[in-house]
Amino acid sequence: MPKSSTVFTWPEQGVTRVPYRVYDDPAIFEREQSLLFRGPTWNYLGLDCEIPGAGDYKLNFVGATPVILCRDENGEVHAMVNRCAHRGSLLCIEKQGNREQFSCVYHNWSYNLRGDLTSVAFKRGVRGKGGMPADFDNAKHGLERLRVASFNGIHFGTFSAATPPIEQYLGPVMSAYLKRAYNRPMKVIGAHSQYLKNNWKLVMENVRDPYHASILHLFFGSFGLSRQTMKGEALLDDSGWHHIVYTKRGTDDIRGSEYEGNKLPNMKSHLKLNDPKILEEWPEFPDGITNMVQTVFPAVTFQQISNCLGVRHIVPRGPHECEWFWTLLGYEDDEPWQTKIRARQANLIGPAGFISLEDGAVTNFVQRGIQGGKPDAMAVVELGGSSIASGEDRVTEAPIRGFWKGYREVMGI
Ligand code: FES
Ligand SMILES: [Fe+2]
Repeated sequence: MPKSSTVFTWPEQGVTRVPYRVYDDPAIFEREQSLLFRGPTWNYLGLDCEIPGAGDYKLNFVGATPVILCRDENGEVHAMVNRCAHRGSLLCIEKQGNREQFSCVYHNWSYNLRGDLTSVAFKRGVRGKGGMPADFDNAKHGLERLRVASFNGIHFGTFSAATPPIEQYLGPVMSAYLKRAYNRPMKVIGAHSQYLKNNWKLVMENVRDPYHASILHLFFGSFGLSRQTMKGEALLDDSGWHHIVYTKRGTDDIRGSEYEGNKLPNMKSHLKLNDPKILEEWPEFPDGITNMVQTVFPAVTFQQISNCLGVRHIVPRGPHECEWFWTLLGYEDDEPWQTKIRARQANLIGPAGFISLEDGAVTNFVQRGIQGGKPDAMAVVELGGSSIASGEDRVTEAPIRGFWKGYREVMGI
């Protein structure tokens, strides 16, 4: 695979073709950091319920950049780069907690909860010797700050002054579906992370891919959690950058489809669970949606698998590696039995989940499959034609094309 240049011409077929080099080229990875993650995008930082009180903080990443999300004494939420302004050490190591200030372990430079530099050790030297120059101004050496936008208790950050307001960025359809689940105070009921040996964009394609769900995942099709024969939709916002795919389990009818008679390789309707409790659920949303995956460009996914609610955030770790952070959620007003069902269903997802296990495998299969290919080799993303539009048809790759539309726009390729 070519390794050197970031300047290449995208195939003329537009977003129905994806050059494999975008998953492989270190120069493209670097360019994503500056143009995409530091560009006009809102990036997921965390939830209100993770930093409820003054001084509460949580660490996260925007692209590869380490970031602190925190709440100050006045209740305002801030985000700043987790990198000491002295010589670049990580300022905070513990993933979550409460602080009155952030002090660097290396030479004890300290910052308040807004990222202002408040003290420098030995600033005036010792007994009149050494120290910083007299004109050293703390005010010029604070932490790098991000703009923060909060949407129904979800905090996003951006490095760019050009990023539009969050409501405009999300658009009306995405906003409505986020408000649907994030409609009252949430609580975290669990978390896990998964280190994947593949490019981060393969994960974002996977979560936008309704084609694979009932084919790859034995559990989905065989136990009727999600099938193409259920009513549902693939929705994109006007820009095409973000997407939602949902299904309604109660509407399934497999008669006359490839699901009937187990014609699909992973459809095994004769299988029975020794303990079917994993399938226990309750009808939670009046719209009847039982399975929903929503992405906000570039790197976050909001999910509802039955009653298992959560956020999945992908963090690039290099051209060929990424880390996937899963936060599992319920509502503050949940009854204990509801929390129990949500937690049990969480066994469907994550690194060893009955469903998600396979996603981590196939994204790595792609990474390995594209190695050593022809320089101009590319993926075919043509299911459903070339449309980047909403529809009831879920036999489509329109949401993936929407991702590449956004990608090409911010990357200028
Ligand atoms: S690197 Fe942080 S105080 Fe020196
Ligand atoms: Fe999947």
